[in-house]
Amino acid sequence: MRSIKIFDTTLRDGEQSAGINLNVQEKLQVARQLARLKVDIIEAGFAIASPGDFAGVQAIAREIKGVTICSLARAVKADIDRAWEAIQDAEDPLIHTFLATSDIHMKYKLNKEPDQVLEMAVAAVKHARSLCSKVEFSAEDATRSDWDFLCRVFSEVIAAGATSINVPDTVGYAIPAEFGRMIHYIKENTPGIEGVLLSVHCHNDLGMAVANSLAAVENGADQVECTVNGLGERAGNAALEEIVMAVKTRAENFKAATRIATEQIHRSSLLVSTLTGKPVQHNKAIVGSNAFSHEAGIHQDGILKNRMTYEIMTPESIGISQSQLVLGKHSGRHAVKNRLEELGYNLDEAEIEKAYQRFIELADKKKEITDTDLEALVRNEIAAFEDRFILDYLHVSTGNCTIPTATIRLKKDGELVQEASCGDGPIDAIYKAIDRITQITVKLDEYNIKAVSSGEDALGEVLVKVRENGNAYVGRGLSTDIIEASTLAYIHAVNKIARVKK
Ligand code: KIV
Ligand code: ZN
Repeated sequence: MRSIKIFDTTLRDGEQSAGINLNVQEKLQVARQLARLKVDIIEAGFAIASPGDFAGVQAIAREIKGVTICSLARAVKADIDRAWEAIQDAEDPLIHTFLATSDIHMKYKLNKEPDQVLEMAVAAVKHARSLCSKVEFSAEDATRSDWDFLCRVFSEVIAAGATSINVPDTVGYAIPAEFGRMIHYIKENTPGIEGVLLSVHCHNDLGMAVANSLAAVENGADQVECTVNGLGERAGNAALEEIVMAVKTRAENFKAATRIATEQIHRSSLLVSTLTGKPVQHNKAIVGSNAFSHEAGIHQDGILKNRMTYEIMTPESIGISQSQLVLGKHSGRHAVKNRLEELGYNLDEAEIEKAYQRFIELADKKKEITDTDLEALVRNEIAAFEDRFILDYLHVSTGNCTIPTATIRLKKDGELVQEASCGDGPIDAIYKAIDRITQITVKLDEYNIKAVSSGEDALGEVLVKVRENGNAYVGRGLSTDIIEASTLAYIHAVNKIARVKK
């Protein structure tokens, strides 16, 4: 069995996609989960891009152990120095530098001749290696580059000290058989390649990112760059969960394995979707909510007789627990803590206390609390930080023959402030009343609501995406009452804005 490394770029290429803006605490939460998932490399960000990016990469480099931590850098000295500054405290740092090699990029974007590009790439790798013992070089837009020029660039950067070389399909142009041939060609025609890792990085513009990555694995790639839920620029990057489960389910074909703790996949997907505010489509492979549900009678009958009739992998293998233990208001702190541990949450005392307080509140409203409810509470609690605005009182009046009106009281910096407003509907009225209290003008870009569990008293989860001053913020609210969940989601987002302003 060959071992395939998983290079996760959720926090860099994924976070770079439109409408996502994670704060440092949220990036740390994702990184902690990626470490539990046992990815080999976390690309934590693009350190020079902004002070927020730098802070995120540095915080991850300082805290997360047992994983290689990487920052992206263009092939220029200032970027590489900044990347190194951010990751130098990591247990195992890696600088990832990139430069375009396709004719179209060299001519129109870089305005450089191929020989100049080659010189820049070599200089960048040499400089990066003078700082860090692990350096990856990516030939941006590799799939539209001349294959022989690409091999020349790769062999020169290897001689300059690159420890891994990456073949990005930057614009999602490749098709599997051709990409497989390209990987094979690079392996055959790049002097020095046997001493370094060969990586691929595929985008999904034609819906083939995963297929292309797997074709590369079949042709000798040692590493795959991917993101949780396939998050990423435009149509996204190759989805980590699909690559990992394909390699695992068809191990006899790939003759390869990854190190991934697959039972952490479901949880990773939920966390990334919650924090980024990007819902996962229901029929998404592996992590969609329908991925393991069987509707057709013939299928259900088959499943009852032998699961393998219609299931090629089990829900348990990605961490969906089938035995839903039920807790209620008489369950003590100890029972909640134990169940959380059994579900794989290693929380500190303060986090357990917060989750327990929310559990008690929920148990007052909901008779039975399932694992799904408990996990939703924990995701919500871990995501919380010091809030400037706290909901104290909420009243709405609505109907088909009345003007929707909301009265809201918030604790604002410790003092109670109340406001009322009418609106097009109850949610609009609430959000307008909140705006009056917070004095922060935001634009609501997205509003999503879903039931977390089943039954009449199911927990409702609302995700909102708001925009303030050009920046996007995601807010999340959880309650058995969807009006309250909507209110909490909006307040959550506004609290994030207040925190940034502070
Ligand atoms: O898609 C791409 O080319 C990239 C590189 C920076 C690796 O993300
Ligand atoms: Zn990319």
